[in-house]
Amino acid sequence: MSQVRTGLGWDNHRIRSGRPLIVGGVRIESDAGLEGHSDADVLSHAITDALLGAAALGDIGMHFPDSDAQWAGADSQQFLAHACALVREGGWEIVNVDSTVILERPKLKEYRERMRAQLAATMGIEVERVSVKFKTAERVGPVGQGQSAEAQAVVTLGRE
Ligand code: C5P
Ligand code: MG
Repeated sequence: MSQVRTGLGWDNHRIRSGRPLIVGGVRIESDAGLEGHSDADVLSHAITDALLGAAALGDIGMHFPDSDAQWAGADSQQFLAHACALVREGGWEIVNVDSTVILERPKLKEYRERMRAQLAATMGIEVERVSVKFKTAERVGPVGQGQSAEAQAVVTLGRE
């Protein structure tokens, strides 16, 4: 591939008890979840922004404004699939995605393979191109105090 582009994504959502916890398109067993206009899937939002960033196509809020009732409670896999379609319309192939979710609890590692499989299916790429990592914030700051969760993602695109 003669052309390569990299995109960076970051997202942050507040934690609230009673909300569903959905990360990477997978429902996680937890008594608290993430607050947001859509399903608040912090990881899928970070990956969506990384894809849009790599192709210089703006950001998630430009394509799916949270002021638009159409996206209330939306499944974020829909946002991710749409970003992949836009990127491919530009002639780009998705080479790989690497990501990190920063969440104090619950532990997410037992969900890793399910998240990779779901994200790969939504993005239309092989599972081996999708990496998902997890970290706590070591009890420091809002993430460490269990008030919020963050996610970071890097996407590489290529085209001839
Ligand atoms: O944050 P810390 O370095 O203590 O995390 C150690 C490991 O715990 C991570 O590499 C990850 O495998 C796992 N982890 C997890 N779910 C979290 C945070 C960390 O599975 N919410
Ligand atoms: Mg978000």
